[in-house]
Amino acid sequence: MTASPSLFSPIKIRDLTITNRVVISPMCQYSAGDGMANDWHLVHLGKFAQGGAGIVFTEAAAVQRRGRITHGDLGIWSDAHGQALAATTAFIRSMGSTSAIQLAHAGRKASMQRPWHGNGPLNNDDRERGEEPWSVIAPSSEPLGEGWLLPSQMSRADIVQVIDDFAAAAARSHAAGFDIVEVHAAHGYLAASFLSPVSNHRQDEYGGNRLGRSRMLMEMVEAVRAAWPEEKPLFVRVSAVDGAPDGWSIEDTVLLAKDLKQIGVDVIDCSSGGILGAATAAKGSPPPLGFQVPFATAVKEQADLMTQAVGLILTPEQAEEIVAQGRADLIAIGREALFNPNWPVHAAQALGADSDWARWPKQYGWWLSRRAKVLESIAEKKST
Ligand SMILES: Cc1cc2nc3c(=O)[nH]c(=O)nc-3n(C[C@H](O)[C@H](O)[C@H](O)COP(=O)(O)O)c2cc1C
Repeated sequence: MTASPSLFSPIKIRDLTITNRVVISPMCQYSAGDGMANDWHLVHLGKFAQGGAGIVFTEAAAVQRRGRITHGDLGIWSDAHGQALAATTAFIRSMGSTSAIQLAHAGRKASMQRPWHGNGPLNNDDRERGEEPWSVIAPSSEPLGEGWLLPSQMSRADIVQVIDDFAAAAARSHAAGFDIVEVHAAHGYLAASFLSPVSNHRQDEYGGNRLGRSRMLMEMVEAVRAAWPEEKPLFVRVSAVDGAPDGWSIEDTVLLAKDLKQIGVDVIDCSSGGILGAATAAKGSPPPLGFQVPFATAVKEQADLMTQAVGLILTPEQAEEIVAQGRADLIAIGREALFNPNWPVHAAQALGADSDWARWPKQYGWWLSRRAKVLESIAEKKST
């Protein structure tokens, strides 16, 4: 008999029904050419859809060229960039999965090296590779840390331009066939750096108290919502806590989530950290399993909207427990999906939700059901 675990129950958000709760988290591939998606992105994202994920997220896609983290980041700052993603969304849909795009601007964390080139600010070695540094922008003219680029403080015109570019990117995402848009407001990138008192020292209406620091994100989300079809879901990824002294707190996140709900946000995707360097505000090394789940639970319970949990969610049983106990609505996996792109279909089997291989692409399922019988008879013979 087939079981009905919560992880594999469908969920309806606006007019969209998602077949299960497993989400492939946004993961930069540093493999685009001037922001353009290529075969790598189609195959990389396509295999997660084949693997049975309910939602497949692209990596952070930059809404401005200077909003890329590295030279290899995906972009969506022109119509051609959007069109380059259309084959990927079509393939994801053909697998019964849902395509999602994360719209981003890296702010003062732009102009970085790819991880395998050092993960620091671009320097002369990178120049030799033809990868020039570029000038970066931020709410205040303060670098991420010592040795990092000094950003220029954004003018009001810069702010309006970024907001317009997020809206234009949302419209392009719709044209490319995406079903979900997520605004990236986590990990110390531009929107997060406006939210945080650690990085925003503006004296105008985009700084100051929590509401002032939230203004840029609120205006950005309003613009995206207006450019994004009413029937399609809108997510926002936040760093629920900075994990830095006197930084953004979970109480701030709950208040922000309530405001975001009022302007049409459907899901808060709860990550953490990144305001002064690497993402995740994990305490201790290594962080405990599911260390960010309590943020998703706090937002869900206190702001009364759907949440996505992410961060060291490793096993089907762990993921199932989170959804079954109502601690989050969606479970995002990152590195586990890189390790095993078939994680969702394996999880379905482990939880008893796929006794007949029906969740696998038919091109595989038919053969694998027979393979299973062969393996069973080999095991039987061995035991007699
Ligand atoms: C290769 C890689 C690239 C990532 N790129 C992004 C990104 O583009 N946007 C984002 O919000 N998070 C990004 N992250 C963070 C993941 O989405 C996720 O939150 C994090 O890896 C924790 O989940 P995990 O423990 O399941 O890997 C990235 C993580 C990895 C491993």
